[in-house]
Amino acid sequence: MAGIDKLPYEWIKEIINVIAEKIVVINRDGIIEYINSAYCEFLGTTMEEAIGKPVQEIIENTRMHIVVKTGQAEIASVHPIKGSEMIANRYPLYINGEIVGAVGTVSFGNPEEWMDYSERIQPLLAELKYYKAEFQNELRSKYNFNDLIGDSPMFQAAKHLAERAAGSQSAVLLLGESGTGKELFAHAIHQTSPRGHFSFVRLNCASIPEHLFESELFGYEEGAFTGSKKGGKKGKFELAHCGTLFLDEVGDMPLHMQSKLLRVLQEKEIERVGGQSPIPIDVRIIAATNRNLEKMVEEGHFRQDLYYRLNVMKINIPSLRERKEDILPIAKVLLKKLERNFHRQGIELSTEVIRRFEAHSWPGNIRELENVLERAVNVLDGNIIHVAHLPLYLQDNHVYRETAHIQPDDVHPAEETIQPLKEIVAAAEKSAIKKALQFTNGNKRLAAKMLGIGKTSFYDKCRTYEID
Ligand SMILES: Nc1ncnc2c1ncn2[C@@H]1O[C@H](COP(=O)(O)OP(=O)(O)OP(=O)(O)O)[C@@H](O)[C@H]1O
Ligand SMILES: [Mg+2]
Repeated sequence: MAGIDKLPYEWIKEIINVIAEKIVVINRDGIIEYINSAYCEFLGTTMEEAIGKPVQEIIENTRMHIVVKTGQAEIASVHPIKGSEMIANRYPLYINGEIVGAVGTVSFGNPEEWMDYSERIQPLLAELKYYKAEFQNELRSKYNFNDLIGDSPMFQAAKHLAERAAGSQSAVLLLGESGTGKELFAHAIHQTSPRGHFSFVRLNCASIPEHLFESELFGYEEGAFTGSKKGGKKGKFELAHCGTLFLDEVGDMPLHMQSKLLRVLQEKEIERVGGQSPIPIDVRIIAATNRNLEKMVEEGHFRQDLYYRLNVMKINIPSLRERKEDILPIAKVLLKKLERNFHRQGIELSTEVIRRFEAHSWPGNIRELENVLERAVNVLDGNIIHVAHLPLYLQDNHVYRETAHIQPDDVHPAEETIQPLKEIVAAAEKSAIKKALQFTNGNKRLAAKMLGIGKTSFYDKCRTYEID
């Protein structure tokens, strides 16, 4: 280190003391060569007593004598001393390529110190994570309805409803399992709406740190608090003015934040933190969640009045397992995207992989499919994705074993009972009709179309199964 030899010796000693807090140096034989007074004080010993002794005699649970043997540094390891969990760093000392000893430091004299430190650092980490996600989001490209792949009647019905929503000003509530494409739908609705030229602003209601809620949503005036930006800052509502505000994961918003949000939606104006006068706001709200909001309202976890405000046009986005016929077309589009990113061409799926894809329940929906394909392309040598390229949970599917000597007949589904075919068909029809009606919000004409049957036949079946 150029220049350090110019520092007075006393300085170097003090610098080490200040930086390391508690420090010990041992030689190759594990004998303490140096230990500072802070460490001695903590251990209840003195420098005179400690120096020259084997390190294990002075410091309980030490691993310094091991580090000097292994030559491997140990960073941030938990080291219990005198009933306290300390954080220890241990480094071997190499001089001219040879181990001459080791240096160790410990910090946080007691758990309280650690808690205090962690409490100060946690909000900063939360803030950093939040802004990182925000930044990523800004970089995302815009989507429209052509990006929503799927020809199944259920998906088409959802898309159809979304197209209608694009033309209206009403609030939209997008419901669907994780990874079904809620965000994509929100983008598409905004892009196609008359507000498409204005901003689409996303607010992740689940991750916004509590202390940022008001300033993020409503903005602040210059000098509203220490560290506030010169000229103040616009909040999400102001940024979305004339455009769309997408309230993502709205079901995860804490109750007290729900009240503040509701107030703005009702009054259609906001007040910046530290501001003097209300600012009128014109935003279209699209909310999304994978939670069961109705149940949350019943249980008192979601405000009923807010639910009514958001739930003007409800769009249920079907899961992948409810539209198996779309799996392959979507996989093909995703593969094309991956080919572009990985500079590859002509990647295909083996027939067995297709079979497994169609048999899998896809709890993570399209996002899971994306991950599975990306992983496969990463480990692929040739051009065909085989079962071996899939994650283990898709390889282990015992019903679909590829190995020739195990016949599918060997598998006995233990819990399945056999019912008369008539009953099975009736139950399936009834549930399909109910589901279709749910998706079309009770629109029987559309439901019949989705199921691919005539209106008269649909009404007959409703009567038979006592569905009204
Ligand atoms: N119909 C679709 N066609 C092609 N790709 C899709 C479709 N729907 C979703 N995707 C892709 O699947 C991924 C997940 O979509 P998105 O983020 O919109 O899901 P989400 O419902 O918001 O999920 P979460 O609840 O986990 O936030 C995205 O990468 C998106 O591009
Ligand atoms: Mg989402």
